[in-house]
Amino acid sequence: MKHISKQRVYSSLAKIAFWSFMFLGLIFIFFFRSPSSSSSATSDPSRRSLRTLAGPAWEKRVRASARIRSRNGISVLVTGAAGFVGTHVSAALKRRGDGVLGLDNFNHYYDPSLKLARQALLERSGVYIVEGDINDEKLLRKLFDIVAFTHVMHLAAQAGVRYAMENPSSYVHSNIAGLVSLLEVCKSANPQPAIVWASSSSVYGLNTKVPFSEKDRSDQPASLYAATKKAGEEIAHTYNHIYGLSLTGLRFFTVYGPWGRPDMAYFFFTKDILKGKSIPIFEASDHGTVARDFTYIDDIVKGCLAALDTAEKSTGSGGKKRGAAQLRVFNLGNTSPVPVSDLVSILEKLLKVKAKRSIMKMPRNGDVQFTHANISYAQRELGYKPTTDLQTGLKKFVRWYLSYYGGGKKSDQ
Ligand SMILES: NC(=O)c1ccc[n+]([C@@H]2O[C@H](COP(=O)([O-])OP(=O)(O)OC[C@H]3O[C@@H](n4cnc5c(N)ncnc54)[C@H](O)[C@@H]3O)[C@@H](O)[C@H]2O)c1
Repeated sequence: MKHISKQRVYSSLAKIAFWSFMFLGLIFIFFFRSPSSSSSATSDPSRRSLRTLAGPAWEKRVRASARIRSRNGISVLVTGAAGFVGTHVSAALKRRGDGVLGLDNFNHYYDPSLKLARQALLERSGVYIVEGDINDEKLLRKLFDIVAFTHVMHLAAQAGVRYAMENPSSYVHSNIAGLVSLLEVCKSANPQPAIVWASSSSVYGLNTKVPFSEKDRSDQPASLYAATKKAGEEIAHTYNHIYGLSLTGLRFFTVYGPWGRPDMAYFFFTKDILKGKSIPIFEASDHGTVARDFTYIDDIVKGCLAALDTAEKSTGSGGKKRGAAQLRVFNLGNTSPVPVSDLVSILEKLLKVKAKRSIMKMPRNGDVQFTHANISYAQRELGYKPTTDLQTGLKKFVRWYLSYYGGGKKSDQ
């Protein structure tokens, strides 16, 4: 009897141990694999693709958004369409009757509600943004199966210079692996699209010769962000050389304006000035001025559209090159650098609030002291001619900021 009851106790204990183990296992899976736990700047492409590769209604939506509505119009896949530049470029293309389909992974690098608001804006003008990652080749191929895109405007990237020290792999994920994934799909598309993509003025890095010309050295990046953009330019060269893809890289210089990026100085200075918080103004180690060639978004959009309109067709098909293809890199700047302290003075006047300035040494975190674009090549080839000075552009930004955030109340991100 004693023996039997002992056996029962052992078997009950074993059962309890087994079910406890299963229970703990389930808790582990729930917490560590649940979608809400992935708040990093990268997202899981396969999970997104399963959600987005929907049925006929979804395909109809994709086709409708990409439909060309004007004579000589183009059909463009805009990656990073929920981003700052992507939203403006998509809206401008749609306005002139081009077909536009957006793609964005809506990552959490900055407040995703701003991305959703931009998405809603585009939705109203007939642009659909597919939620997906550029690393998801299956999704990209599906989009190219549905639409024979003539052009790709590739703006999806991990932006920001300083964040690279916090999350370096997000730069590799989007700016290198993502670019290769996109070019792989473009190279085997039939017809191959022409690609215009965003590089950055940051590739000039430690270059001291000003203004920066496309011919200057760009092999001394000061940040991982810059290094990934420079790598992108070399990768573009390879795909042009081997597969005949038409590729145009645009080196943007500090773009600003309505619907801008909250991680950029002009944006968070505005927020902090309104809140009465002190704002850091960096100076170089020799007390030198830190200045930027701030470029208004409408000027950048004109440059992007001109690059698309002058892009020659890719020459390859079915993954094979059939002849030499166009390969270009342009500076898109304002060619008029402004010290950051002057930017703050303009904001003070527009906001009618005195800023609490805190002057400090520029930390060595990837920022450079000075940017200044030589834009003569873009002027010649693209007819690019920026027309908005910083005062005028910031006025438009502040007007938008106040209407969107209602004087700062909504901007607690
Ligand atoms: N704004 C500037 O001053 C500036 C200057 C130089 C270069 N650039 C470049 O211009 C482009 C647009 O910049 P922005 O200011 O609009 O930045 P942004 O961050 O507002 O837009 C980028 C968008 O890409 C999306 N994205 C990021 N990784 C992705 C991925 N793997 N798959 C799909 N979507 C992804 C993001 O969700 C975001 O909406 C970027 O390539 C950026 O590096 C911008």
